[in-house]
Amino acid sequence: MTFWSGRRVVLGVTGGIACYKSCMLARRLVEAGARVDVVLTRAAAEFVRPVTFEALTGRPVLTSLWEPGGALSHVRLGEGADVVVVAPATAHLIARMAQGIADDLLTTLLLATPAPILLAPAMNDEMFAADTTRANLAGLAARGVATVGPEIGALAEGPSERPGRMSEPASIMLAAERLLASTGSRLAGRRVVVTGGPTREPLDPVRVMTNRSSGRMGIALAEAAWARGAIVRLILGPGALAPHAGIEVERVETTAEMGAAVGRRLPQTDVLVMAAAPADYRTDDIAAVKRPRTGGTLHLSLAPTDDILAGTRSLRKPGAVIVGFALETGDALEKGRAKLAAKGLDLIVVNDALEPGAGFEVDTNRVVLLGSDGSSQTLALAGKREIADGILDAVETRLG
Ligand code: CTP
Repeated sequence: MTFWSGRRVVLGVTGGIACYKSCMLARRLVEAGARVDVVLTRAAAEFVRPVTFEALTGRPVLTSLWEPGGALSHVRLGEGADVVVVAPATAHLIARMAQGIADDLLTTLLLATPAPILLAPAMNDEMFAADTTRANLAGLAARGVATVGPEIGALAEGPSERPGRMSEPASIMLAAERLLASTGSRLAGRRVVVTGGPTREPLDPVRVMTNRSSGRMGIALAEAAWARGAIVRLILGPGALAPHAGIEVERVETTAEMGAAVGRRLPQTDVLVMAAAPADYRTDDIAAVKRPRTGGTLHLSLAPTDDILAGTRSLRKPGAVIVGFALETGDALEKGRAKLAAKGLDLIVVNDALEPGAGFEVDTNRVVLLGSDGSSQTLALAGKREIADGILDAVETRLG
């Protein structure tokens, strides 16, 4: 079961070059369990033929009020939808919508639907910056229409430093989820800090000590909390992965930097989830120049880094929910319980690095949640996003 299982999505596609990415969006929604009805504008059908979307969604695709099935479809489709997503939303579509113009199937449906609407604008950067477009979007926002993006990045006409590029399908899905899920969540509007990834400690200007954490669990938690409507800051150690663009990310390098970043945020934080694997050791003996390998055996004295979680005790906002992780190799529950108490946590997520499918560098996890109230809950092997949702469910029951 995913969030999308059994949900009904109307995907409106307008005629911008970004509509090649709408095929991927339709496919991902279907794979996640949604029923997807695609409505193409006439211009969109010039870019991608309806048959492509029919094959991807397994459902008829509508392009006109005048074709068989089109006459009342604007009302029927719009009424039955959980959400209407328009991706890409061109400047022209946004302008028509802002004025209430209903001159084709998609704009008629948008005017008639009671379902929440999410637009993923995509256009030339000058067109997006134009006063008219800004005013149209502001007017729509005031009427409750949500948008995702556009983002800065390459446009069809070349590189750009300004927004215009349509958000990626994963970001659009997450934004749609936030639109639908946040009203029912206790995390909506709460400040959540998640840490993720490893940290690394320098040995000399080119060498570091670190660990195998990829950041996947922290990113999944940040995205899951964001989808529930939280105000999320992800404090992320070095690594190639990054979350969806709507999430505020603060990059850090060392354990001390991560500790300082957490400390700055903590007094206003409702939920802290320490999913990071901070480097446990550091050296004071950092060489100013690269140490030659040929210099013979290297002896370094390593000191433990500061415990970030334990150090947060005096900074915690009253009522805040503090979650730690314990990745162990053997006697995991016992060690987890000890860390729960030692670090003053409300919840600790325990897993065994030696179990297949759990731990670092994999997409799945199997964990046990131990609570300071003595509770214990096992989350079966699942994708990191599903595990993240299980953890956040447990957090929500503890939020005042
Ligand atoms: N943690 C932390 N500061 C550190 C190291 C770890 O806040 N310097 C946090 C981790 O993010 C995690 C929890 O503490 O949420 C447990 O991490 P773990 O590495 O298992 O704990 P350690 O205290 O380092 O214990 P160990 O002696 O087993 O390494």
